[in-house]
Amino acid sequence: MTAQLIDGNLLSKQLRTEVAARAQALKAKGVTPGLAVVLVGDNPASQVYVRNKVKACEDSGLHSVLEKYEATLTEADLLARVEALNNDPSIHGILVQLPLPAHIDAQKVIEAISPAKDVDGFHIASAGALMTGMPGFWPCTPYGCMKMLESIGYDLRGKHAVVIGRSNIVGKPMALMLLQKDATVTVAHSRTQNLKALTLQADVIVAAVGKRNVLTADMVKPGAVVLDVGMNRNDEGKLCGDVDFEGVKQVASHITPVPGGVGPMTITMLLVNTLEAAERAAK
Ligand code: GUN
Repeated sequence: MTAQLIDGNLLSKQLRTEVAARAQALKAKGVTPGLAVVLVGDNPASQVYVRNKVKACEDSGLHSVLEKYEATLTEADLLARVEALNNDPSIHGILVQLPLPAHIDAQKVIEAISPAKDVDGFHIASAGALMTGMPGFWPCTPYGCMKMLESIGYDLRGKHAVVIGRSNIVGKPMALMLLQKDATVTVAHSRTQNLKALTLQADVIVAAVGKRNVLTADMVKPGAVVLDVGMNRNDEGKLCGDVDFEGVKQVASHITPVPGGVGPMTITMLLVNTLEAAERAAK
């Protein structure tokens, strides 16, 4: 068996077309959805990410501002910028790109963002809302994974999902989203013993570790759905995920490629969250 690909580029295109239409409808009412992206320092990967986020906004008819600051910006000055953006009615979503320089307390900055504008879904209020099933913003990467499962009509009720990785950005919120859809969820991590015994029982596997070949074909039950959140480089410098794609695609029923899988969905869900924030503000 060769797995069916879940194409993140194609799904993103469809969702972004919907975002653009909703943005147009909102504009007709005099509200242009706006995202502020704040970058501190010159981390090369972050520079690429923020550029892609701003471009995606433009392509979908959302207003965006990119604020770039030197790595020497003080925490107090960054907090003051966040506060100004909280009070700016043209801005509906605020994203402070991580990582921040070591002298800035990232969690403090995240908590300074108004939960109503927390389109990254990293604020404690957003995490609490997800945990309790209340309305709030969901972190973009696991939210994108849920959309990918939805796109193949996958019913999670009673299924066993194994999430590999326990980060606040992906693993933990992913587990809560799967649980909300009535899956039985196991969260595995670096200290987990006998990962293979767990993954072999899984109907759905989400790999979100940041390490190549964490999941190989011998660890996957035939017919399982495999989502690869990893973003790594192989020995030739080519982009690859956490999953041994060539091997696992022989066993799984569905699999996401890297690149072109979960990656584009993360930015798409940022657009969805920003639009949602603007729609809520317009009400
Ligand atoms: N750095 C890497 N990924 C992300 C993300 O999704 N949001 C923010 N704010 N920073 C990041």
